[in-house]
Amino acid sequence: MAQDTLAITDSRTNRTYTLSIDQGTIRAMDFRQIRTGPEDFGLMTYDPAFMNTASCQSSITFIDGERGILRYRGYPIELLAERCTFLEVAYLLLFGDLPTDIELKQWVNDITHHTMLHETTKKFMEGFRYDAHPMAMLVSTVAALSTVYPEAREIYDLNNRLLQMKRLIGKMPSIAAMSYRHSLGFPYVYPDNDLSYTENFMNMLWKMVEPKYVANPVLARALDILFILHADHEQNCSANVMRSVGSAHADPYLTTAAAAAALSGPLHGGANEEVLKMLDEIGSKENVPAYIKKVKDGHGKLMGFGHRIYKNYDPRAKIIKWTAEQVFQVTGRNPKLDIALELERIALEDEYFVSRKLYPNVDFYSGIIYQAMGFKPEMFTVLFAIPRTVGWLAQWQEMLSDTEQKIARPRQVYTGHETRQFVPIGQRGVLASASL
Ligand code: ACO
Repeated sequence: MAQDTLAITDSRTNRTYTLSIDQGTIRAMDFRQIRTGPEDFGLMTYDPAFMNTASCQSSITFIDGERGILRYRGYPIELLAERCTFLEVAYLLLFGDLPTDIELKQWVNDITHHTMLHETTKKFMEGFRYDAHPMAMLVSTVAALSTVYPEAREIYDLNNRLLQMKRLIGKMPSIAAMSYRHSLGFPYVYPDNDLSYTENFMNMLWKMVEPKYVANPVLARALDILFILHADHEQNCSANVMRSVGSAHADPYLTTAAAAAALSGPLHGGANEEVLKMLDEIGSKENVPAYIKKVKDGHGKLMGFGHRIYKNYDPRAKIIKWTAEQVFQVTGRNPKLDIALELERIALEDEYFVSRKLYPNVDFYSGIIYQAMGFKPEMFTVLFAIPRTVGWLAQWQEMLSDTEQKIARPRQVYTGHETRQFVPIGQRGVLASASL
């Protein structure tokens, strides 16, 4: 079959170039040949915030934002959320296929045996101020793991790489739970290897003096589903950080810490915390129209609404709404749900939100569930970081084995001064005022 091509005529030179089209993309480097003369650097593409640039080829996650579709390794998210456990999905994301029974048992065993933190890491965490934000604690502690496992920098030793990935997935809930208990002044609870990934996390969060923590199965399953939904989302802001920092061959702890730092921002994973603050500010259903008017007048955003990719209902938000109902049967209904439902109802009918294709995203309902389960809003982004670690690692691993990838280094369009004359410090003000 003939290769698809794009013909471009440069009006500056009247020359025509033929560029190959492959998988709906043009290679940005193909533009470099388009020059006005030997001194010309060649044409570049300008794409602030990567609005229309594919930075990699990936076979991990598929999103069709217009149709509201999300698949991991080809499996619809709805199916995985209904039929799998989080660690099963983690295996799928990292290794490409769903595990067999034996592979899953081995995988769960491996992750379970990497949940303990080194005692020095525990002491490191004890040094944080009593009111430190748990997400800042998590980011710093993940980076600090680099000091505990210096061999992690051998990123092209495949066994070593796998070991560090298991450690990261195993230790994330332990760090998250410790940061939570630190903020409450409670002692650290050591992992219990008899429990599942989410049950053990709940054990480390909430065990008090009872000899054995028994998690409510509905809540443990809800958390597992939420972890599945948050595990990966292709080239989002933090995944892009993971790939970018990882492309410099930093070790996986420092790289994951960088990705988690990106996640902490209110426009990314920090949005679920902001949703709760917003619902608190609204206070009651009656105040919803006034709040929506405020947003439309340009005062703030409707947090938990809108997405760079989804221009339709976020499929994860649908599953979360269903999960919320299960959780509320155990915990009682979170009164904030009524405000959220009213906000969604009005926004989905409003021309401002309809014309901009703004729908609830994954963060709109997750915070309401987390709060009903007993989490403080400061913990919400930490709950996002635990499962997303799997996605980051899958993206990182794929990037390292992609022979086309190099250190990530975008170009810029320089808009500053040409060479300026240097003015000695004693003459600077004088010359400036003289030229006024
Ligand atoms: N509330 C009100 N208006 C909004 C919202 C919102 N939540 N989101 C976007 N808009 C408006 C913008 O003001 C803009 O309007 P304009 O065309 O009149 O200027 C238009 O919709 C397009 O928005 P952009 O900012 O260009 O969209 P972008 O793709 O850059 O932003 C983002 C996506 C950052 C998620 C944005 O929708 C937002 O800030 N939402 C609130 C924060 C949030 O929920 N983040 C979580 C995202 S999901 C995740 O990271 C896990």
